[in-house]
Amino acid sequence: MREIEVRLHRDLPPARLWSYGGSSPGPTFETRTGQGLMIDWPNELPAHHFLTIDHSLHGAEADKPEVRGVVHVHGAKAPPESDGYPEDWYVPGKSRTYFYPNQQDAALLWYHDHAMGINRLNIYAGMFGLFLIRDGVEDSLNLPKGAYEIPLVIYDRLLRQDGELDYPVSGDPAHPWVPEVFGNVMMVNGKAFPYLNVESRLYRFRALNAANGRFFHLSLSNGRKFYQIGCDQGLLPAPVAIESTMLAPGERADFLVDFSGLEGQQVVLMNDSFMLMQFRVSAAKPGAASALPSRLRPVPKMAEQAAVKTRPLGLIENMNMRGESMQMLLNRTPWHMPVTENPALDSVEIWTFINTTEDSHPIHLHMVRFQILDRRNFEPYYYLARGEIRYTGPVVPPDPEEAGWKDTVRAHSKMVTRIIVKFEGWVGRYVWHCHVLEHEDNEMMRPYDVVAG
Ligand code: C2O
Ligand code: CU
Repeated sequence: MREIEVRLHRDLPPARLWSYGGSSPGPTFETRTGQGLMIDWPNELPAHHFLTIDHSLHGAEADKPEVRGVVHVHGAKAPPESDGYPEDWYVPGKSRTYFYPNQQDAALLWYHDHAMGINRLNIYAGMFGLFLIRDGVEDSLNLPKGAYEIPLVIYDRLLRQDGELDYPVSGDPAHPWVPEVFGNVMMVNGKAFPYLNVESRLYRFRALNAANGRFFHLSLSNGRKFYQIGCDQGLLPAPVAIESTMLAPGERADFLVDFSGLEGQQVVLMNDSFMLMQFRVSAAKPGAASALPSRLRPVPKMAEQAAVKTRPLGLIENMNMRGESMQMLLNRTPWHMPVTENPALDSVEIWTFINTTEDSHPIHLHMVRFQILDRRNFEPYYYLARGEIRYTGPVVPPDPEEAGWKDTVRAHSKMVTRIIVKFEGWVGRYVWHCHVLEHEDNEMMRPYDVVAG
């Protein structure tokens, strides 16, 4: 963890960022299933934070050191002592060695800061990077690789005229926290509005939404269909032809784009009607072509009857007298309260997210992968008053491109979203939380315990 100065665009002066290993995004780890990896994560950050800390937030009180860090590999099935528990932060001059067994399917994971109460600031400052796991199933599919497999880390930032990062504050000096941050500049792989030279052939893109709060709705400017082949935790059963795909903070999409027949043209990767980046297409070099496989990796559907427990979990926002957001809660329970979610090791549970708020919240569980069962509209006010769910719409199955193994799910506004999870891995303390980082830092995170079965 280190402070750096980098140009976010050719025409801008350098900006101060915080990084892993001297770049943001940090270096990409590439490993294989079953090949364990030990990583030292020394904290070499300066003594003072350059973004405004809200000392009224839990875990960021004025008696805590300003600069703290702890690394979590998002989507990793890791033992609790290597998972980057938010309270396990350490200060400059200290380090931790974490072990990642990588006993899991090929997938695009990512690593980022998780320090209690300032996580949103550290990630915004640049502390994130990619972590790829590969395996034999993926190898056998003859997917585009090397120069034809491109990671896309997508996020937004507010940049000042002088090129420096800006992080907004509320205007109340005692509570500078804001409920959401949206940038004025779209970033891909550390650059504002970049372009990429591509050949007129098939490419594989590994996209991650690393934004604090913005959802990206990706499409191509020429309207061409592309093929989603994977989501958070790996490959889908078969490619899904789509015109657009949605990514909430923390989610990943693995997709193939065919640029053939587009020599000399420019294609823009769009977020709705806004430009993210440009592809400049030239003729394909002769060489081994790759084709779209018809089958990928089977994803056996988990049976609801296997669940030993169903947990109804309300997502609730507290407002002040002026109708301004004050905090977000999971099941009306702040972080410091005793653990309420305590699944047994290797048991299957259904978690039901009852979203009473106006926002969609991407809910992430550490250590495990899960499947989305369904979503359904309900009456939030009736639920808030009576604690009972009254449905107002039909059961909606997950979209085909999210019908694989997930670790982050969009719990839509005024909907009940159900997931089914097997708690495989280790006994110990983990967390689950909303991945809108402003929500996470203001009580939308809870510890959970996996207990001996
Ligand atoms: Cu992306 Cu708790 O993590
Ligand atoms: Cu949220």
